[in-house]
Amino acid sequence: MDFLDEEAPRLLREALDGPPDLVISDMAAPTTGHKRTDHLRTMYLCEVAAHFAVETLAEGGHFLAKTFQGGAEQDLLTMLKQNFKQVVHVKPAASRSESVEMFLLAKSFKGRKTDG
Ligand SMILES: C[S@@+](CC[C@H](N)C(=O)[O-])C[C@H]1O[C@@H](n2cnc3c(N)ncnc32)[C@H](O)[C@@H]1O
Repeated sequence: MDFLDEEAPRLLREALDGPPDLVISDMAAPTTGHKRTDHLRTMYLCEVAAHFAVETLAEGGHFLAKTFQGGAEQDLLTMLKQNFKQVVHVKPAASRSESVEMFLLAKSFKGRKTDG
């Protein structure tokens, strides 16, 4: 289903056998040909995936998501750095060099704060 549907994160969590060790998103918005629009739409999908990861991962888990050249926005990086021990951008060998895609890798989730 559309992961931007407000029900999607809950339904995906319910389909899992408890908190996962890894959240991977290769989502990319259908391209319009307008570079700025395409960039913003795909970065938004990356942000939604990152929030899902922080709300869902098991402690020590990892998050990997597609971004476009230029990388993730500062607010997103700040949020991830607060929640993971290490956050880096990676361009794997399997990603074509002419493609503007790159990946955001956040390692070792610190865990969710519990009240009290
Ligand atoms: C680069 S392709 C990923 C291909 C995938 N890794 C595979 O091997 O089939 C980008 C994917 O993001 C999906 N996508 C785009 N927007 C989405 C959304 N709002 N919710 C869920 N998937 C979305 C598209 O359907 C498309 O399959």
